[in-house]
Amino acid sequence: MDTIRVNLGNRGYDIHIGSDLITQVGDLVQPLSLGRHLGLVTHPALAEPYGSVVADSLRRAGHEVSLLTVPPGEESKSLEEAVRLSRALVRARLDRGSALIGLGGGVIGDLSGFVAATLYRGIPFINLPTTLLAQVDSSVGGKTGVNLPEGKNLVGAFHQPHLVVADVLTLRTLPEREFRSGLVEVVKHGMIADPVLFQRLEEQADGILARDPGTLQEIVRRSCAIKARVVEADEREAGLRAMLNFGHTVGHAVEAALGYGAITHGEAVAHGMLVAAALSVRRGLCPEADAVRLRRLLTRFGLPGVPLPSPESLETYMVSDKKARDGVLQFVLTRGVGSVTFAPVFDRDELRLALQDVRR
Ligand SMILES: NC(=O)c1ccc[n+]([C@@H]2O[C@H](COP(=O)([O-])OP(=O)(O)OC[C@H]3O[C@@H](n4cnc5c(N)ncnc54)[C@H](O)[C@@H]3O)[C@@H](O)[C@H]2O)c1
Ligand SMILES: [Zn+2]
Repeated sequence: MDTIRVNLGNRGYDIHIGSDLITQVGDLVQPLSLGRHLGLVTHPALAEPYGSVVADSLRRAGHEVSLLTVPPGEESKSLEEAVRLSRALVRARLDRGSALIGLGGGVIGDLSGFVAATLYRGIPFINLPTTLLAQVDSSVGGKTGVNLPEGKNLVGAFHQPHLVVADVLTLRTLPEREFRSGLVEVVKHGMIADPVLFQRLEEQADGILARDPGTLQEIVRRSCAIKARVVEADEREAGLRAMLNFGHTVGHAVEAALGYGAITHGEAVAHGMLVAAALSVRRGLCPEADAVRLRRLLTRFGLPGVPLPSPESLETYMVSDKKARDGVLQFVLTRGVGSVTFAPVFDRDELRLALQDVRR
């Protein structure tokens, strides 16, 4: 087992990464001195085998566990579902000393984290991420929230977890497309801050795609370490944390243009990273060879997998992006594998040329 400490003063916490950890959750939470009664939130399809394994482990450690399920899918990240969960937890007699545990992907983490942030004005939250995206990205950083019909993640709270336990064995049952999409955020972490991680991805691509637990443990550890360092430096996203948006300005536009559901978030961000790299090469910031490495690695992982929409269809979505200030797009660009820089993009033609570079 590897452990990464996220140093945030009295809100600091550990991230444990390894194999077969969900059977040991009862022992792993002991140092936290949680209340006796715990709420466990997951999807019906994850309740067996994972949920019952977690509940058994917690019960062996002396806890009472109330297991609650929410339907899968982004639609469950709603205020209505948060209300339903909160009421069920109160009726199950969770009290102010209780903690809430989320077992699942980013939807479960964001929703149950939000409920933990607000129920009784905040109770401890423990995240057991079971998708690659959740293990390397959404479980670290303390952002919780739900969607509104008007847009994603519009209601939420910063609520750091008390503990994160990423069991890489749970990734074995993840659908292939979800797994590959999660890999995009790992590639992103390599691109923005860790050339060694990027090289490991290149060298170990076969083991990763075969979901070899040892290989996954290393890439999840390196990825979490990067996100943890960025979050430590900028907990509330005042500046530096924006580097995590590499590939996301164009990525969000691609998701919106194709319609959510037609392309995964990861596939869209893969396009976004390629466009950001093309822009960076055009500006002389990034060696062409590094942009080629990025494209090769993504291709090796079967990404983006869906063609990039036309520049015209993307443009309207890009100016409405929350990163566009006064019509000027704030871009995260690359100086090559392992290094980022921020720059405004004023010139629509420059962007169009970069989009064309990627479509070729
Ligand atoms: N809080 C943050 O900082 C942050 C960061 C990035 C993304 N997010 C959010 O994360 C969400 C996406 O998360 P996601 O990609 O994990 O999707 P998800 O939570 O919807 O999970 C994807 C699917 O995989 C299933 N699943 C989960 N674990 C499984 C396993 N081990 N085996 C088999 N099936 C499994 C789920 O039931 C679901 O159907 C979005 O709502 C996004 O906004 C949050
Ligand atoms: Zn992302």
